[in-house]
Amino acid sequence: MSSFWSWYVALLTVGNIVACYWLIRWASKPRKGEANEGDVTGHTWDDDLQEYNNPLPRWWLWMFYITIVFGLIYLILYPGLGRFSGVFNWNQTEAYNQQMAASEARYGPIFSAYAKRPIAELAKDAAAMRAGQRLYLNYCATCHGSTATGAVGFPNLTDSEWLYGGKPETIKQSILDGRQGMMPPMGAALGDAQSVEEVAHYVMSLSGGDADTAKASAGKAKFATCAACHGPEGKGNPALGAPDLTNGTWLHSSTGSVAAVVAAINEGRSGKMPAHRQFLGADKSHLLAAYVYSLNEGQ
Ligand code: HEC
Ligand code: HEC
Repeated sequence: MSSFWSWYVALLTVGNIVACYWLIRWASKPRKGEANEGDVTGHTWDDDLQEYNNPLPRWWLWMFYITIVFGLIYLILYPGLGRFSGVFNWNQTEAYNQQMAASEARYGPIFSAYAKRPIAELAKDAAAMRAGQRLYLNYCATCHGSTATGAVGFPNLTDSEWLYGGKPETIKQSILDGRQGMMPPMGAALGDAQSVEEVAHYVMSLSGGDADTAKASAGKAKFATCAACHGPEGKGNPALGAPDLTNGTWLHSSTGSVAAVVAAINEGRSGKMPAHRQFLGADKSHLLAAYVYSLNEGQ
């Protein structure tokens, strides 16, 4: 904060407190032409409702003074006046770091004990999975949903279809280092709108979806443009995160359709799973990998 803003904040704060004090003093003084204390003021509402000139109760007035004194003491002890850091030298970052260190000391050993056990075994431990679910709800549910079934653009983690692979170590890597799926717009590479539509019909036919047979067979040859990433049979490539187009599971639309595939081809598609190595650390990521794996057990 520059010293201008520091002074600006400090003066505004102190000025407000002084103004409050002045307002109370001013309001409690009798003024000329006003009714005497205890008398009616002459204001009448609803025929017979009269206003008296009575002072505020003492205790109420004292509350105002106490609030002002509290505010002043607070501003001396804690930061609040621009750059002045307060007599206690308390600060938010320090307090956060201390709380984090305390929680690390308390819970760290629990997570590191879990981290020593294999993911597949951990996935069968009910207590570990309760802890894993709490982490999941805190850190993952915003994107993958509270039941981990995903949303458009965010993969379902409970089905047996994986973009990058569903082995314990692969899941853990997705969490630790993140993933970036990239499909550039492909319309130009296919040529014209008709080719795009034909390829889209072919893609829909791969999963037995709604497709025109003639257009699909015309699109088949042109699918070669897509094969580098999605594979010659459209079964996807986990190294690139290119989805399997034959399984009837869709990432970028709720149900597949020719229109959705046309849009994917013309616009390109990309998705980013953020890395959690720095943010959560290896031990919590290990437990989370076990939790995700447990959602898929028996596949
Ligand atoms: C450079 C590699 C690459 C090429 C070439 C490519 N794709 Fe993709 N495609 C991907 C990736 C990666 C994704 C997933 C994007 C993400 O992470 O969200 C994807 C997603 C899609 C989707 C969405 C799937 C879903 O589940 O919603 C469709 C449909 C698709 N591609 C069709 C095609 C077609 C048709 C072609 C050829 C015209 C093609 N792609 C060419 C890499 C590619
Ligand atoms: C900001 C949103 C976001 C958050 C937060 C997030 N993810 Fe993801 N995650 C994604 C997206 C998007 C993808 C798909 C990436 C792609 O399209 O290539 C993904 C992919 C994944 C995959 C790979 C799925 C597959 O099919 O291979 C796993 C596993 C995963 N996430 C687990 C988690 C876990 C566990 C957490 C919590 C620590 C988490 N994610 C937090 C957005 C998120």
